[in-house]
Amino acid sequence: MSMTTETASAGFAARPGSSLERIRVRRLAKNFGALEVFRDVNFDLGEREIVTIVGPSGCGKTTLLRCIDGLLPVDEGEIWCGREQITEPIAGVAMVFQHFGLFPWKTVYDNVAYGLRMAGVSAAELAERVPQFIKLVGLGGFEHAYPWQMSGGMQQRCGLARALAIEPSVLLMDEPFAAVDAQTREILQFELLRIWETRPTSMIFVTHSIEEAVLMGDRVFVLKGRPSNIAKVVDIDLPRPRSRETLRAARFTELRELVWSTLMKEAREAEFHLER
Ligand SMILES: Nc1ncnc2c1ncn2[C@@H]1O[C@H](COP(=O)(O)OP(=O)(O)OP(=O)(O)O)[C@@H](O)[C@H]1O
Ligand SMILES: [Mg+2]
Repeated sequence: MSMTTETASAGFAARPGSSLERIRVRRLAKNFGALEVFRDVNFDLGEREIVTIVGPSGCGKTTLLRCIDGLLPVDEGEIWCGREQITEPIAGVAMVFQHFGLFPWKTVYDNVAYGLRMAGVSAAELAERVPQFIKLVGLGGFEHAYPWQMSGGMQQRCGLARALAIEPSVLLMDEPFAAVDAQTREILQFELLRIWETRPTSMIFVTHSIEEAVLMGDRVFVLKGRPSNIAKVVDIDLPRPRSRETLRAARFTELRELVWSTLMKEAREAEFHLER
């Protein structure tokens, strides 16, 4: 089996074995005025697949997720979720933001219930489902706390519970653990992996941490260039379930180095162009 796929055009098919594709992105381009953020982005996200995205700051990772979430219009190309073309937010896709994105005036319970209320879920069903998700992320007992009464890690768990509560078919995560300390981050990574094992959702996970990208992903996309593009797809052939053991595997180190060297190569090329 080949370890990596060199180009985006050859590598956009979903991981073998994931029969259905959840998200299909074709020839996607996005500009902000004269700024071309990305161009000709192509990929599939498979059923139960986790794709992680790394790339230099400003290369358009958040913009790409916001397009897939239907929050931003695209300039060219198409995004499909199953048979539905995404042009605005749709029910099956949920996003966890870089900076929690909680409503500060709502309690944990009401934050988690928000998406379900919007979907018209009855009060009786809310009373059953909301505590379940609060417990799942380890926030049992904090139902009535407000975001400002909780640590960063707890707020991030709350954001995760809110996204999971609508039982999305696709979960978009924008550096979900960037704002918490290193120890909490590690705990949350393994919690998320545990939750994913019990309810495997298709996921696109943006991160600046190469370790996190390799630990979580079935494939890692390396974004580069201006406008940016998927420069490389790295298949992560580490077995699941993944645990702390995974971090000690020789293969983990190999894959981490591979993603790292790809990113560094892109960074050096970008610097070279700037110098000229
Ligand atoms: N609403 C906006 N209007 C104009 N320009 C924007 C807007 N949002 C993002 N940009 C620009 O688009 C580019 C990509 O931004 P984006 O936030 O997607 O990058 P990113 O890869 O997520 O960066 P980071 O890793 O720092 O989070 C940047 O140059 C940014 O300045
Ligand atoms: Mg971003």
